Amino acid sequence: MNRKDFGEDFIWGVATAAYQIEGAWNEDGKGESIWDRFTHTKSLNPFKQRIYQNQNGDIACDHYHRYKEDLDLMKELSIPNYRFSLSWPRIFPDGTLSSKNQKGIDFYHRLIDACWERDITPNVTIYHWDLPQALEDKGGWTNRDTYLRFLDYTDFVTKEYKDKVPRWFVLNEPLAFTVLGYFLGIHAPGRKGFANFYPAVHHVTLAQGEGGKIAKRNCPDSEIGTTFSCSYIEPVSQDGFLGELHKNAAIRFDALLNCLYIEPMLGMGYPIDRLPSLKVLEKYFQEGDEERMKFDADFIGIQNYTREIVKWSPFMPAVWGTIIEAKKRCEKTTEMGWEIYPEGIYHLLKKYASYSGVKKIYVTENGAAFSDKLVEENGQIRIHDVERINYIKSYLEQVLRAKKEGVPVNGYFIWTFIDNFEWAEGYRPRFGIVYVDYETQKRYIKDSGYWYRDFLLGKEV
Ligand code: FCB
Repeated sequence: MNRKDFGEDFIWGVATAAYQIEGAWNEDGKGESIWDRFTHTKSLNPFKQRIYQNQNGDIACDHYHRYKEDLDLMKELSIPNYRFSLSWPRIFPDGTLSSKNQKGIDFYHRLIDACWERDITPNVTIYHWDLPQALEDKGGWTNRDTYLRFLDYTDFVTKEYKDKVPRWFVLNEPLAFTVLGYFLGIHAPGRKGFANFYPAVHHVTLAQGEGGKIAKRNCPDSEIGTTFSCSYIEPVSQDGFLGELHKNAAIRFDALLNCLYIEPMLGMGYPIDRLPSLKVLEKYFQEGDEERMKFDADFIGIQNYTREIVKWSPFMPAVWGTIIEAKKRCEKTTEMGWEIYPEGIYHLLKKYASYSGVKKIYVTENGAAFSDKLVEENGQIRIHDVERINYIKSYLEQVLRAKKEGVPVNGYFIWTFIDNFEWAEGYRPRFGIVYVDYETQKRYIKDSGYWYRDFLLGKEV
């Protein structure tokens, strides 16, 4: 495989998120986010911790103080694009314009400038899950007002950093943070049930549509898009009467996991035809919301890691189906317990390309966690993460396959640059192409990092 196969204008990069790497959780005037609160609150059940080993992102990779060193490493690896997110409570500690924090604003100016100084293009995500806690106290995403505060914040940052950011991503994986944070309660803010989930979905969809329009208005020369998590879905079997039920369950899961947020943005409304329980969302509509949900994005970002196998179940309301855990059906999974299924990304690229409103696709996250071993060779620390290299390579081959068949896919970002705080899983899963020793904050480039560098430099890999 060769970089040239993807074409000259294909964008290559790595991705991170503020809460997962920055640390400095209460420095320089930063406000509390829902992730600060969630990780600092002990579970009521002593046998069930919210986060692996009660860890938190207070220090994380200390990127807030070490961003220059990290960007130097990125440069050393010849990585041309860095996708990172802004921490909303660092800029507006209580989420509203009146709480403006100059030191937080300055930090992102320094970070963006430091990218350009190294010829690295900054790619900015406006919201990667760290809602200001003060807004959560008023209902968070279940409160319609939060989407208006999000628009204020978006308007501000897209004016503030405007000329310096050629590519903006409005939201990171709305499905993930609404399901995990407002339905299952395993991510911040830890809310559960349909009564939280449905209003959160609608308000996030409004934030996505209107936020995109504001960003485009403020930055007409930048590319504006947003990202979606997606998993290739297949029924456990298709034979006989049960097979029919499994197939329909798979259609419902596909609507929920892969279509819920993109279709209203494209003007198609929510996928109620495939998942009738979504009709409840109409309860939260106000006059004009159909228009508000729409956004003519310059590109969409898809983020894919795995495939899900679904079976029919009479016990799971709304979707009437369940996911069969990969660990129960695969010999080998990643450290997240996810199946490695490269063909999935090919099918998903084909699927998203078939929407008529999708102009361009970037893979804005893809990568894997494996148990990395440090070895000392000739006085140097090495990490021979062959599995990660194979994972990335096999997914990239499928991206190329889709591209060759005419899918307008034009970028790829590895998740992630450095090992970091993996939400509820804490620091256990390591996704980075650079290893972090959290005791010393020392970084060690893994073999996958060198592999990516060689590939980016045009070598056959
Ligand atoms: C995605 C998230 C990212 C990271 C990876 C593993 O869902 O966007 O922050 O957690 O998964």
